Amino acid sequence: MNPTHIHTALTMTRRLRRLRRTPALRALVRETRLSPDMFMLPLFVCEGEGVRREVPSMPGVFNLSVDEAVKEVEAAKADGINSVILFGIPDHKDSVGSLAYDADAPVQSAIRAIKRAAPDALVATDVCLCEYTDHGHCGIVIDQEIANDPSVEQLVRAAVSHAVAGADMVAPSDMMDGRVGAIRQALDERGFANTAIMAYAAKYCSAFYGPFRDAAGSAPQFGDRRSHQMDPANSAEALREVELDIAEGADIVMVKPAMTYLDVIARVKDTFDFPTAAYHVSGEYAMLKAAARNGWIDEPRAMLETMTSIRRAGADIIITYYAREAARAIA
Ligand code: PBG
Repeated sequence: MNPTHIHTALTMTRRLRRLRRTPALRALVRETRLSPDMFMLPLFVCEGEGVRREVPSMPGVFNLSVDEAVKEVEAAKADGINSVILFGIPDHKDSVGSLAYDADAPVQSAIRAIKRAAPDALVATDVCLCEYTDHGHCGIVIDQEIANDPSVEQLVRAAVSHAVAGADMVAPSDMMDGRVGAIRQALDERGFANTAIMAYAAKYCSAFYGPFRDAAGSAPQFGDRRSHQMDPANSAEALREVELDIAEGADIVMVKPAMTYLDVIARVKDTFDFPTAAYHVSGEYAMLKAAARNGWIDEPRAMLETMTSIRRAGADIIITYYAREAARAIA
């Protein structure tokens, strides 16, 4: 039958398609909006000069020497991205991660150089030992176990050294118990009451960190991270982690990874209504890049749909390797 001859008119008061008819209507009623202000760009800072080495499993992401990191911050600012989080890739590692708190290591040098070149950029730093230990663990290993309290002592040293170099915010990602409180106290005692703490509060033991460990050379040489990072099966426990970190003085709490933990982001935001960050991690980025390179997905759409879903779940801040591309796409 010719479809134009169908004239059945249903009687309905509510037709939801009415507001989906044109781009202007859809924009008017859009519930979730993205803004470049909410993105934070991770940067991997290494030794040397003029180094810009692409991470094989993360197209578009580089190991950058300090001078190149400064250029990247300036380029990111031109795209509308004003916040970065720094990770260090030292040339030398030892059993206690001493370069994590060396004033002349890549991260500390990069903080100073970025603050000199772009004083209004927000510089956050990842605080962990895994990039600095020869065994690749996030803490001090005693009898094959990651010893909590001695590890916290080292993390405090690292966080303080970042604050001394001029970081606006430190972000402990180690998942040791009690580290947020210890870092807060040490910062306050040394006159860094204004240095903020973004706690990796609910950080899961995830397969999606693989490409990061390539980038940072931080894969554990034995064992895994199950004794400190969270079991992917748990979400009530995430609330306990977040509650403790808030009580210990965290200014921002983070859920990580993002896409496979949208329910956790939503629960954390609903329960605490606290500034909440989500980390769209290396493996999540790599999956999209790989599929896009094979022509299997439309990358710009998949990227924005992903960022929108993380925002819709309740994240106020999204840490993502896509920060610059996303900011350009929504400009
Ligand atoms: C630890 C740290 C990791 C990531 C951020 N901070 C790695 C890990 O826990 O093994 C992962 C980030 C990513 O995968 O993008 N310093």
